[in-house]
Parts: sequence; C-alpha cells; structure tokens
Amino acid sequence: MRFFSFAQLTNYFLAKWGSQSYECKNEPNQICLYVTDRCTLSCKWCLRQSEPEKYIHQRSDMSFQLAQRILEYYPKATHLSLAGFGEPLMVDDLFKITAEFKKRPMKVSIVTNGTLLLERINDILHAEFHSIFISINSLDAIDYKLVCGGNKDTFSNVLKGIHLLTEKRRSTRPSIDLGFVLTRDLFYRTPEIIKFAEEMNASRLYLHNLIPHHNYKDYTGILTTDDEEVVTKLSEWKRVKYKVQVCWPKLVQKGLEKPARICKPLWNWLGVDIEGNTAGCHRAMGISREYGNLFQEGKQVWNNAFRKKLRMCFLKNEFMFDCCKTCVEIQP
Ligand SMILES: C[S@@+](CC[C@H](N)C(=O)[O-])C[C@H]1O[C@@H](n2cnc3c(N)ncnc32)[C@H](O)[C@@H]1O
Ligand code: SF4
Ligand code: SF4
Repeated sequence: MRFFSFAQLTNYFLAKWGSQSYECKNEPNQICLYVTDRCTLSCKWCLRQSEPEKYIHQRSDMSFQLAQRILEYYPKATHLSLAGFGEPLMVDDLFKITAEFKKRPMKVSIVTNGTLLLERINDILHAEFHSIFISINSLDAIDYKLVCGGNKDTFSNVLKGIHLLTEKRRSTRPSIDLGFVLTRDLFYRTPEIIKFAEEMNASRLYLHNLIPHHNYKDYTGILTTDDEEVVTKLSEWKRVKYKVQVCWPKLVQKGLEKPARICKPLWNWLGVDIEGNTAGCHRAMGISREYGNLFQEGKQVWNNAFRKKLRMCFLKNEFMFDCCKTCVEIQP
C-alpha cells in the first residue's frame, strides 16, 4: 500500500474544490487511456457505429512505453482508467501498464465489456484494480446478441467471468460494478436488472441514460423528464432498499436551452489515445486531433484553445455543441 504524494493530494483538492476558470489551475486528476481501436463487440448505440471510418484502420494497441510516456506529463494524477472506444482487455501490454502505475501510486480501474474476463482472469486478479466496471447491457443471450453482437456463447462467458471474479477477489476489492445502458426499451426491466446485479454479487449497478450518438437531437430511446411513466416508476423503484448500490439514470430535459450546471469533468479528466490525441470530453465526444495532441502540445494540451473555449461556454451558461444538450452531465 503506498500513499498519494503531497503534490497529488493538493492537486486532487484543487480539482475538487478549487474555483473554476476557463484556464484550469489544477492538472487533470484522472487520466483515461484509450488503449485500443479494437473491440470484441459491436454495440448498436456505441460511437464506434456512428463513426465507423475512425475504426476501420485499426492502429496498434497502446504499448507499456507509450502509456508511461503519456502519464509522465501528469505526475499529479491520482486515478488512471483504462477504457475508450474499444475493448481494453484485448491489449497485450495492459497488465504491464497496470503494474507500473500501481507503483506510483494511482487508483487504477478498467471499463470492460467482460468478454475476455475468463481468458485473462489471473492477470486481472493480480492487477489489483481499484474497480472493474463491466458493461452488460442485456439480461439474456438473445437480447445481448441483438444489442451487442458476439456469438451464442458470449453472454454466458461474460457471466461466468463475473462469477469467477466475485468468487476469487479479496473481500471488497476490486469493486465489481455492472453497467447497463438503460434505453427506453429496457427501462421496464429495471427491477430484473437490479435482481440480476444482486445475484451477481456486484458492488454497484450503474444505469446509464442513452447517449444518442447517431443524432444528438433525437430523443428516441432516451429517458426524459416529460415521460410520466419513467418519472413515476423511477421514484417508486428508488424507494425500495436493495442489496446492491444502484446508481440511477439521470433524466434528460427535452429542448434544454442552457446548461443547468458546468460540466465538471472538463476540470479534472483527460482522455488520451495511442497517438497522443485527446478526447473532447469523457462522454459524448470521441477522441480527435482537433481536440489537441499531447505529444505536439505537451502538457499545455490541458489548457489549449479548444478546452478553454469549451470551459468558457459552460461558465457563461452556453452550449457549444449539440451533444451537450442531451448529456446527463449538465441536466437540471
Ligand atoms: C465505450 S465503452 C468502452 C469500454 C468497453 N468496451 C465497454 O463496453 O465497457 C464505455 C462505456 O460506454 C457505454 N456506452 C457506449 N455507448 C453508449 C451510449 N450510446 N450511451 C450510453 N453509454 C454508452 C458502454 O456500455 C460502456 O459501459
Ligand atoms: S464493447 Fe464497448 S467499445 Fe465495444 S462496441 Fe460495445 S460499447 Fe463500444
Ligand atoms: S456536457 Fe458536453 S462536454 Fe460535458 S460530458 Fe457532456 S457532452 Fe461532454
């Protein structure tokens, strides 16, 4: 067990409680590595399906050396997550990366679709992740194949992997969090989803509202505040006590004209890919050179013109992009 350095802690508190200006005074506290362009699935609402041209020419996965180079720019970060628009467990060097950053110290977590849990179970247990977030998104094999792809055995292998993980982990770590994109179609099955998460012994269940990557003005499939059935059912379900901690979906207000709050992660989170390109934000925007490149701009990419302008818009209570209008981060 190693403790955060004074510089890490100071940066953490500044990121959490410091005043926000368009030029961010603290360094990013959370770094997310977009470690691969490859994926084992093809979830129908994933950004990969809306921007397929970006994923056709798959680049080499992130190497240990590259991850180290990226993290050297931000020594004060306390949290590393391995995610992105691809499947991190496909990456050969993944566990070399986690081993290096556990030394730092950093909390290391992973977001995975779980399809390779069985294959890499020993490495996963050895990596001592702080948390493992497994995106499930379906309650049965038929629905899973329709929504996420894979073959007839994929869903049952994901479940076997989760069982093995919860069985073999030390009592509370890593926390095993399950995630569902709770589309309007799936909404009515929420009680079954909660039961499922309880049976899987999950630490937490995240129910995420849909990000409409295909068209940010289309509310079909999103849980909205004007949907009486959704509002009534949610408040009914929230009153029940569950064995698993449920993180409920935030509803979206149709036709929102101004952000109801600032988008906080713009002041503490940075995503970087294999070429040093950075993510526009941690939800709807993907990663692109136009949002800045770490290797070209250096650590100032954190305060480059794009980020300053985006932060400024939130400080002035204005939208810069349509994707923000349906994003849960800034809803009332
Ligand atoms: C892009 S994935 C990447 C990591 C990994 N491949 C996975 O699926 O867990 C990260 C998370 O975003 C979620 N996600 C993908 N598309 C989404 C959408 N349109 N709306 C809401 N969540 C989405 C996934 O279910 C997953 O939990
Ligand atoms: S598994 Fe993850 S990255 Fe792959 S398509 Fe599904 S949501 Fe996207
Ligand atoms: S509010 Fe906009 S910038 Fe912030 S996470 Fe959502 S889409 Fe991204």
